[in-house]
Amino acid sequence: MSAFKDNLLAGKTAFIAGGTSGINLGIAKRYAELGAKVAVAGRNPEKASNAAAEIGSEALGLSCDVRDYAATRAALEEAAGKFGPLDIVVSGAAGNFVAPALAMSANGFRTVVDIDLNGTFNVFRGCRDLLRTPGAALIAITAGQAVKPAMLQAHVCAAKAGINQLIRVLAMEWGPSGVRVNGISPGPIAGTEGMARLSPTEASTRALAARIPLRRYGEISEVAESAVFLVSDSARYVTGTILDCDGGSQLGDARDPLGEQGLQPG
Ligand code: HXC
Ligand code: NAP
Repeated sequence: MSAFKDNLLAGKTAFIAGGTSGINLGIAKRYAELGAKVAVAGRNPEKASNAAAEIGSEALGLSCDVRDYAATRAALEEAAGKFGPLDIVVSGAAGNFVAPALAMSANGFRTVVDIDLNGTFNVFRGCRDLLRTPGAALIAITAGQAVKPAMLQAHVCAAKAGINQLIRVLAMEWGPSGVRVNGISPGPIAGTEGMARLSPTEASTRALAARIPLRRYGEISEVAESAVFLVSDSARYVTGTILDCDGGSQLGDARDPLGEQGLQPG
């Protein structure tokens, strides 16, 4: 169920970095359903053109590595060249693997920081003069690891924490031009590459879900609804914020502290 009208994003243009699979592809599809013209970008050109075909005939599938500023800028220029000034830019490309810090080489650590944090800078810096202003809305996809440390995730924790501060700085610097910059912090989302890496078994998935206040993983479509809200006119006075779409995960471990005795209902 969605609270948004079918033509909410008619006449808008959107560029989604990392929009060729998972959560970001879900966001891209939802924007297109609501009438936006959508470009998605990832490293793999075939994956990008398949994603564009899934989104719809007007969608553009582009190939760039967000670690490379010039390539990222070229993809943004291609999208703006085809669609016109950009109203919406989402930075969601990310990399992850599970390893203790001592099993990470300097290059392993740098790789994730480079994709997630430097990539977000490249996407946002690269799109700035291609935006329709005032009114453009930018979203970075961050994660709970930005705030809550997680073992085996030193690279992601550092990178996503940097993204959270980048969001706030750009919200301040670009607010006067009418550009809003926000983040979404998804919790564990079902059926994604991220969770396949972090929680690969049924047992680990059940154990993790049992700690979440809402007692389940989220759906890609639920993150997409948050992404619609943040670019909609309803959020016109919202900038520099990070919307947790995580079932309450960031609040902490919500297993019943009374154990067998049980919490009182409610
Ligand atoms: C230790 C590892 C490793 C592992 C890679 N490396 N995997 N080190 N343990 N499991 C090291 C390599 O040895 C190498 O270091 C360095 O990392 C770079 O590896 P490459 O394979 O050359 O990098 P690249 O081809 O650029 O691929 C980047 C990647 C890859 C991050 C390693 O996994 C990728 O492309 N991921 C994209 C998809 C993805 O991760 N999706 C999930 C996003 S979810 P050396 O020293 O050997 O050169 C997410 C979740 C957040 O972000 C939070 C969820 C709750
Ligand atoms: P995913 O399916 O692996 O999507 C990653 C996307 O980024 C793909 O389109 C990938 O395409 C692209 N990408 C990766 N490296 C890139 C690079 N260097 N340059 C350009 N594009 C690149 O991931 P997901 O699990 O849906 O996660 C999506 C976002 O949500 C990420 O920011 C992640 O940190 C965040 N998040 C996810 C969860 C979760 O539960 N999954 C929870 C919290 C936060 P190519 O491989 O073709 O490049």
